[in-house]
Amino acid sequence: MSAVTIVEVAPRDGFQSVREPIPTDTKVRIVEALAATGLQRLEIGSFVSPKAIPQMADTAEVLKRARLPDRLRVHVLVPNRKGLELAKAAGVREVAWVVSVSESHNQSNVRRSVDQSFADFEQAWQELGEGMRLRFGLATSFDCPFEGRTPESRVIACVERVLKIVPELEISIADTTGRAAPNHVRGLFTTLVRDYASDKVEFSFHGHDTYNLGIANAIAAYEAGVRIIDGAAAGLGGCPFAPGASGNTATEDLVFAFEHMGISTGVDFAKLLEAADLTQSVAPQQAGGRLRTVTRKRALAGFGENTRGMAA
Ligand code: COA
Ligand code: ZN
Repeated sequence: MSAVTIVEVAPRDGFQSVREPIPTDTKVRIVEALAATGLQRLEIGSFVSPKAIPQMADTAEVLKRARLPDRLRVHVLVPNRKGLELAKAAGVREVAWVVSVSESHNQSNVRRSVDQSFADFEQAWQELGEGMRLRFGLATSFDCPFEGRTPESRVIACVERVLKIVPELEISIADTTGRAAPNHVRGLFTTLVRDYASDKVEFSFHGHDTYNLGIANAIAAYEAGVRIIDGAAAGLGGCPFAPGASGNTATEDLVFAFEHMGISTGVDFAKLLEAADLTQSVAPQQAGGRLRTVTRKRALAGFGENTRGMAA
């Protein structure tokens, strides 16, 4: 079965959900530990208003200090052109732009209408530097904390809108609240992959585990053809502007589930568990995920047909 790429978002979605300031050095250590696990992509911080999310104010410093392997793809989240400008100044080569499908979450998150965000994006696209990559995130693609279930037609309209502006990109479809059900995820991605995916347009899935459906939703996305899936080590995460949402689906749970199904992630699972332990130390009471709670011996007993019996 074809491999899946796990995108680690704890250094953005995870850290932004922690109220207590996390020292920059701690962030750097966690980022370096995650990068050493074999993960291919990391989202490291965001360039957003420090008044909106003070925890992200040291993103440029984290990027500057972290020693990262060349093979690693790094992106930062930006909500507007000012964020893009700051990302470029920090030497970032890839940005994750975010717009919410639902009007009320976009207002709450970035204080703009969806139309205004798209207009801003259209300009930003012109300003993207030579060779820079773009990941376009559609938040609240399944559910909005204020409006409830998001109609599929609204997501499709946003996908068509972005494809009119940018012909070649990755579109991240996000379950911001974690309230999507696997059949909803499968249904939406089946349509999107069938009608819009190509060698120039790829879809990815960003899920939260609030209702314990994170793994089931990720597998549903995979089965519908998605090959890029977000996770956060130790299940940290949460949008401060999406009340009721908890952490992202834990990266270690995703890696275990996919590897156990014979789907390669390229991640060293033992190293990932260590990195997840380090990650949870910034907010132990918020951490989620199951695999860290299984005894290490059992968790590391192998995958698929290579599983060794474990009495202890
Ligand atoms: N990075 C840093 N500072 C920024 C910024 C950015 N991307 N965008 C705006 N600012 C600053 C402006 O310079 C201005 O500063 P000043 O008060 O010192 O003059 C101030 O923020 C207000 O600017 P304005 O354009 O009016 O922004 P706003 O108050 O309407 O807020 C956002 C809009 C998008 C900047 C803000 O809502 C935000 O940062 N949201 C991020 C939400 C987020 O990260 N959610 C989780 C991820 S999905
Ligand atoms: Zn998220």
